[in-house]
Amino acid sequence: MPNPNDPWLESSDVMSVFPTLVWKLQLKAEFHQPIDERILAALKKQGLPDAAAGEAWQSGHNLHQLDEFRDLAACVERGTRSVLRFLRIGYDAFQITGCWANVLAKGASHRAHSHPNNFLSGVYYLCTPAGADTINFHDPRAQAGIIRPPVTELTAENTDQVVVRVKNGTLLLFPAYLQHSVDTNASDEARISISFNVMFSGFTENLSKPLW
Ligand SMILES: [Fe+2]
Repeated sequence: MPNPNDPWLESSDVMSVFPTLVWKLQLKAEFHQPIDERILAALKKQGLPDAAAGEAWQSGHNLHQLDEFRDLAACVERGTRSVLRFLRIGYDAFQITGCWANVLAKGASHRAHSHPNNFLSGVYYLCTPAGADTINFHDPRAQAGIIRPPVTELTAENTDQVVVRVKNGTLLLFPAYLQHSVDTNASDEARISISFNVMFSGFTENLSKPLW
């Protein structure tokens, strides 16, 4: 960026256009711990396995309909409303179109993917041992990777991947088109998270069947 004190310049600015937004909410411990206990008990009923090293497990996709997930679903809905307000989006109604648990045992990872036919996606974190407490977001601008010269320093402006650190009680919300992945679990303990998707109700009913 030119030096703003250069004699030939009246002003100099860098503008961020079309930013990709990720919302990170941290629930208070006294609020999320009872929720977590209820969810974990419900997952055990659903067949939560003691996954062996290298294994991944996913539950069914309708956890949000279970009574034990009501409080988490309410948090997701509250977070979604604040995102839609932030984005100045006019809508009639939205709904959680899918909600499922992910267990990654030691050595397991999750490849990059997105969640088509939803507006927002998100993750709530139940068990995030050290070495299994990050998620990667990948640059959604495919064309930006066509020319990728070496950089002298990795910065937010030249990277194609952003690593976000999470902990128990973290709730992330992001555009459903945004590719994300999870690195190999380097902990001896399982990483357990709850994923969900959100879509405008009218769109879901009339135009599109959600995909996972
Ligand atoms: Fe995902």
